[in-house]
Amino acid sequence: MNIVVLAGGTSSERAISIVTGTKVCEALRKKGHMAVLADVFAGVEEPDWENPFPSDYKLEEAVAYIESWNDKIENLSKSRREFLGPHILELCKRADIVFLALHGANGEDGKIQAAFDLFGVRYTGTGAMGSAMAMNKGITKQIFSSGGIPMPQGIMLWRGESSCKLADYGMDFPVVVKPCCGGSSVGVSIAQRQSDYEKALAEAFTWEDEVVVEDYIQGREFSVGVIENEALPIIEIAPLKGFYDYKNKYEPGATVETCPADLPAEKTREMQEYAKKGHRLLALEAYSRLDFIMHEDGRIYCLEANTLPGMTPTSLMPQEAAAIGMSFPELCEKLIQTSMKKYQTKTGENS
Ligand SMILES: Nc1ncnc2c1ncn2[C@@H]1O[C@H](COP(=O)(O)OP(=O)(O)O)[C@@H](O)[C@H]1O
Ligand SMILES: [Mg+2]
Repeated sequence: MNIVVLAGGTSSERAISIVTGTKVCEALRKKGHMAVLADVFAGVEEPDWENPFPSDYKLEEAVAYIESWNDKIENLSKSRREFLGPHILELCKRADIVFLALHGANGEDGKIQAAFDLFGVRYTGTGAMGSAMAMNKGITKQIFSSGGIPMPQGIMLWRGESSCKLADYGMDFPVVVKPCCGGSSVGVSIAQRQSDYEKALAEAFTWEDEVVVEDYIQGREFSVGVIENEALPIIEIAPLKGFYDYKNKYEPGATVETCPADLPAEKTREMQEYAKKGHRLLALEAYSRLDFIMHEDGRIYCLEANTLPGMTPTSLMPQEAAAIGMSFPELCEKLIQTSMKKYQTKTGENS
């Protein structure tokens, strides 16, 4: 198939997205696809429109081109209104499907999905509505709590109009403060006391106008991938120091990851059932990955759903796939095939 792997963009997770995109593009080419890598915001140099998906493609050159934009993206994003970079829409329209290797704002939040729906561009993963709901941790909390998926009790606060006193909301320390629509733990803090809390709020509000404050759950952390409504084996995530923050997520060796997780069979089943149910409740499609914490008393809490989880060979979901014997290129292929089914069921044919 002719595939565009879209990565980069302007979100706080740009750097991770470029790694995901590079690895996915490499894997898809290994599987025989004519995959090309493009930065959704920086765009690409004008392709040869006679042959935009060449067989002798140089992935390293595409990566170098994307990285040459890293220092310019911030300024450019202030001065340019249009999000899609030069030639991106045209290139994506020519593809059989676009693999979304984006993370965070304008990639994972439903906007690009909505635009692509209107332009008739096929893409991997969840559609516009599910992406938007899963991106917003406050909305996810409301949907999950009414659908019977336990989440830490919490509230949403808006910049400027919120009390800084937890007692006003019937809550107590410790709490976790996080930007409503962020990812990769950017802007997330744990507050043990009022002084930490005020700093945590100030930090979270530097990222967004809306933040979630929720009870801190002391326990073990897990994540569960879902593909086509089936749960993958659970992975346990144990940072050597502190919580699963940005550094512990991306510094090699900072976190011990165990898959399949060492859990009693009934806890494994319970968490996998929550993952599958959460995937359905949020209208997620093709694949997703849900994060959990199990309290020391055995109660399981869902933290969030990720619609475009990290997809490097050492990311969580690829490790879960490896535990059932699925290699990284096989997983990428599976995500393409699964995502293509969305279009078959919608149109009754693979058109
Ligand atoms: N309620 C909570 N209790 C304990 N730890 C939490 C809680 N919420 C978040 N964390 C920690 O912060 C990390 C990031 O939070 P998460 O909700 O998954 O946001 P994201 O991954 O989108 O940044 C989690 O992986 C976990 O380590
Ligand atoms: Mg998370």
